[in-house]
Amino acid sequence: MSNILPTVLLQEIACAETKASPCGLVVFGASGDLVRRKLISSVFELYKRDLLNENFYFLGCSRSMFSDQQFRDDAADCIRKCLGDVPPDLLSRFTAKLYYLTGNYDDQSFYKSIASRMTRLEEKHNVSGSRVFYLAVPPMLYETIVKWLDAAGLSCVGRPECEMVRVVIEKPFGRDYQSAAELNQTIQSHFSERQIYRIDHYLGKETVQNILMFRFANAIFEPIWNRNFIDHIQITIAESVGVEHRGGYYDKSGALRDMFQNHMLGMLSLVAMEPPVSFEADHVRDEKVKLLRCIRPLTEQSADTDFVRGQYAAGVIDGASVPGYRQEPNVDAGSTTETFVAARLFVDNWRWQDVPFYLRTGKRLSKKDTEIAITFKKVPHSMFISAGLPELPPNTLVMQIQPREGISLQFQAKRPGSKVCMGTLKLQFSYADVFGGEPPEAYERLLLDCMLGDQTLFTRQDDVEVSWRLIAPILQAWENQTTNLYEYRAGSVSFPQADRLIESDGRKWRKLSET
Ligand code: BG6
Repeated sequence: MSNILPTVLLQEIACAETKASPCGLVVFGASGDLVRRKLISSVFELYKRDLLNENFYFLGCSRSMFSDQQFRDDAADCIRKCLGDVPPDLLSRFTAKLYYLTGNYDDQSFYKSIASRMTRLEEKHNVSGSRVFYLAVPPMLYETIVKWLDAAGLSCVGRPECEMVRVVIEKPFGRDYQSAAELNQTIQSHFSERQIYRIDHYLGKETVQNILMFRFANAIFEPIWNRNFIDHIQITIAESVGVEHRGGYYDKSGALRDMFQNHMLGMLSLVAMEPPVSFEADHVRDEKVKLLRCIRPLTEQSADTDFVRGQYAAGVIDGASVPGYRQEPNVDAGSTTETFVAARLFVDNWRWQDVPFYLRTGKRLSKKDTEIAITFKKVPHSMFISAGLPELPPNTLVMQIQPREGISLQFQAKRPGSKVCMGTLKLQFSYADVFGGEPPEAYERLLLDCMLGDQTLFTRQDDVEVSWRLIAPILQAWENQTTNLYEYRAGSVSFPQADRLIESDGRKWRKLSET
């Protein structure tokens, strides 16, 4: 076996990264799960990569009692847990920039303390103007926090420097169109849209960002990226994990709200949108929203004809028995919340008319696998009929989002041997083989972009509202329980009703991890 890599980096065309300007990052919910699992180590990585400005501080705010020192020690533990061994002097220089303030989110005086602490920290760390407020808290607290930040004069809305002050919110952005519109209205009465950074962490993944580069930095794909050449597109987000410790949240949400309305429709819009004029935030976001608006409207009947929902029952994953969804902690024993969604959508425009987009996402499937597969049309006529090949497999281009990030293209070619000896081959590019290691955590990209004031990878208000409006009839039908909820065994790859959705069109779901 030779060790030659199948893909090589010929030339680096552009790889500049801009260092953040001086900034104060104020994080609400600082003792919570998101901060401890993702945010703190992502900020540290930026520091390690010299992308964080030396003039920086991190002020954690939360209800839990911590001193600055306890918070620093805890942060150091979280970083070591996430990243393994890190240089101790670098870690202690970083943690020296961390501070902590305890308080109640609904107590106005907490925000006064935050304001005066920020003033002192800005002086100490020589930071002026640039402030990021990160709301790593349950959504029901968003309104309270933005209201009091504004009252304390911290939102700076209406002043010329206001774009330097930003607020970051995590999904879910509402639980339906109405609540999302209300939430947007509330936040926008305290911060302007230019200051609001709605995080969909999928957009920060390297492989999701790559969709635009791959499509629009190459001339050979765009001419065939349409209904004339493409038979259908499949988008899959399969997870082997269950709801873990989030049963309480998930049971009120379900896969349609948790994954489909945001991550799946986000990937669909990137793969199907028209080329933006430039890589400017609003140019990209305009095209994303335009695409979402072209998705054929759904009705309550579509819940029967174009959607399938499922819920996992107990099963076995990687040799270990796992409980069913209804047995998970904080989940209602009679819950009808879906943990799996499969859908068929159409995009009504010149490029995509009548090309089906099949989307599926589910928890507790046999393995983790996120991919976008573009299946091209078959050859119109096989000239190899006489050799027993009346049908030839279609070419398929797969963007493997995670794990084993990469791109592959399947095609037919001659095999050495008899005259008509053919095989289906795969050209494969793997990020790990070419660039080594794991891709950076999505939060690194998103935090840096937020500090730089770049909203390209953040979800705009109209995007949120259009996608909620699209799925409203399905939410309604499922709430009315007018459609079936199917059970699938944990560890399955699929189940018959989900298969039928695509098989009734003469197509098949791709096997998980087929790349
Ligand atoms: C989150 C969902 O947005 O994405 C989770 O709330 C899901 O339910 C997670 O598990 C998946 O993210 P990733 O990056 O592991 O694919």
